This record gives sequence, structure tokens and C-alpha cells, in this order.
Amino acid sequence: MQCNWKIFWENYNECLHCPGVHLQLVQLVPIFGRGLLEERDDPQWMQHAGSNDPKFKGGLRAGATTWSMNGQGIGPPLPGLTAEDRQAAHVYVTSLPSVFFVGHPDYVRIVRLRPLGPEQTEMCVEYLFAPQTLADPNFDMSNAVDFANAS
Ligand SMILES: [Fe+2]
Repeated sequence: MQCNWKIFWENYNECLHCPGVHLQLVQLVPIFGRGLLEERDDPQWMQHAGSNDPKFKGGLRAGATTWSMNGQGIGPPLPGLTAEDRQAAHVYVTSLPSVFFVGHPDYVRIVRLRPLGPEQTEMCVEYLFAPQTLADPNFDMSNAVDFANAS
């Protein structure tokens, strides 16, 4: 990326830019389309409290099961997820200044950053799938990778 590593993290911490930049993502995660990362960011949260509409509560649009081009899973859900986990469809764990992890219902994405200079940062993205997903002869991670690249 042609930017300082701190610019990346500043951008990472907000979604005000999402509606104008992440066109695929805001279709899949409707609350992002409102420029909000989560329910607690909503200035009118009291008006929407109790709503299950993903536009207010967060999580995926109806019919989607994971972060992918068509919203469909790359493989079966990872073990141990609750219904709430599957609906949220993303859990971010951040370890500043160099990595964040995103757990999705059926895969994990790891994004590592390495400053190369004041105006250049290397980004390395890895995708982790369950052994049974990898063993599927029809396994194709492009649905997830294309989504991340397009979003
Ligand atoms: Fe962004």
C-alpha cells in the first residue's frame, strides 16, 4: 500500500468511509452502509433497540452466511459457534501495530502489516480453513478472497 502504516490503522478504526468505498461489503453487512461499525455506534440506538434488522443490529443481510462474494459459505461452519456468532459473521481481534485477525463462520483471515518506509506498507493476508473444508475436492477459496479484494 502506498501509505504510512498509521494511516491504515486510522482507517481500520472507523466505517464512515464504508458507504462510499466498500460497495460489496455494505451490501453484505448493512450496518456498515450506515457508516457504523456496530450497534453501539448508532447515535439513535434507543430508537432501534430490540430491532433484529441487520441495518440496526449488525450482522449479515438476510440469506447470507459468511463474508464472500455471494454471501454463501466456503465450507461448513467452524465448530463451537453460537447462532449469534453465525449471525454476526465477524469477530475482529486486533494486535496493534502489526496484525488483526477476523473470525468468520467458516474461515479465519489474518492480516499482517509491515512498514517498508514512511509512505509504503506491506500487507500480507492469510486465510485459514478447517481441515474438512480443505479436504473437499470442490474447495475453492476464491469466493472469500475475491470478496476481500473487491470490498
Ligand atoms: Fe476501509
